[in-house]
Amino acid sequence: VAKALNIDLKQLPRTIELVRAGNSLVLQFVDQELLPDQVLIAKTSSWKEVVDAIMRLGIRGAPALGVAGAAALALWYVNELPKETGDFQENLDRVAGEIGHARPTAVNLQWGVQRMKDMIQSLDEADADANLSAVYEFVKSMEAQDEQINRSIGRHGSKLLGTNSRVLTHCNAGSLATVFFGTALGVIYTAAEEGKVERVYADETRPLGQGARLTVWELSRVGIPTTLLCDDMAATVMAKGMIDAVIVGADRITLHGDTANKIGTYNLAIAAAYHEIPFYVAAPLSTIDMNLEEGSGIPIEQRNPREVQTRPLTGVDVYNPAFDVTPASLITKIITEKGTCSPSQLRDFLGC
Ligand code: MRU
Repeated sequence: VAKALNIDLKQLPRTIELVRAGNSLVLQFVDQELLPDQVLIAKTSSWKEVVDAIMRLGIRGAPALGVAGAAALALWYVNELPKETGDFQENLDRVAGEIGHARPTAVNLQWGVQRMKDMIQSLDEADADANLSAVYEFVKSMEAQDEQINRSIGRHGSKLLGTNSRVLTHCNAGSLATVFFGTALGVIYTAAEEGKVERVYADETRPLGQGARLTVWELSRVGIPTTLLCDDMAATVMAKGMIDAVIVGADRITLHGDTANKIGTYNLAIAAAYHEIPFYVAAPLSTIDMNLEEGSGIPIEQRNPREVQTRPLTGVDVYNPAFDVTPASLITKIITEKGTCSPSQLRDFLGC
């Protein structure tokens, strides 16, 4: 018997929100470095502070990075450009480059920055008021679109789940990783309302604990029964028959269907294939890199060894890639806002 869960998404804050303050723009964001201890809505008018927040994972998750990147460039254009000297195009290229490279793996960041850059380049230099409104409205429409896209991913993905499913997820591909609602967790929210979710198993996600700190916080706030696992327990719970499906997000999907996501995703995909459990990747079309065929071409961010070795010992080498690549052959379906497809159908699905 299907048991629809009474979930309450109003318990979740909007992750990022651009606001207009007279003649300037301010970005509000949930500072995720502080979660779950503190729910702080940070406010900044400085594009450099947004870059800093992105680098320290105060703002994170591929779709949220796309909108934050666009918003950061809007902050520069409205709040800083009037004070700058030098060539406009050179300054724009430099700032857009710096924002776009704050994190290398999620293609959405460069996608969002490029969209705002194109928008700025289309403006008539003379009319500052109209330009402020135009860049503001552009970010607001990206914010609204992000939520619509996620709700659509949710509807398509939910069709893949049976009644009372027990779903395993990794990292945080939830509302916190987007403007609102989430991708992998968006599928879970939609399915929960349709009586298709019994429980979510959330990997801790070493080294920065996005599962333990963010996913578990988000799911329990909304009212989804959740069990926290250490990363190394996934194969065991699968072997015990406790998992019906794995759903994760993505930072970059190639045309071949290979997918970069948080380190440890590849391990999960191997374990899921061995146990014949479907492995789904939920992501917006903006996560697909239309210029890349194979996963081996995806740039993988290397992060500070201190994230892994919290008690430093001298003379110990640390390897800390933030992402891994799951080959297309291990992915059952990719879930997008336009529907679902197997990785081998991705090119046809995209019409390219
Ligand atoms: O390093 P993070 O926390 O930005 O990594 C995030 C992930 O790996 C997510 O799964 C991915 O960005 C998809 S978010 C909908």
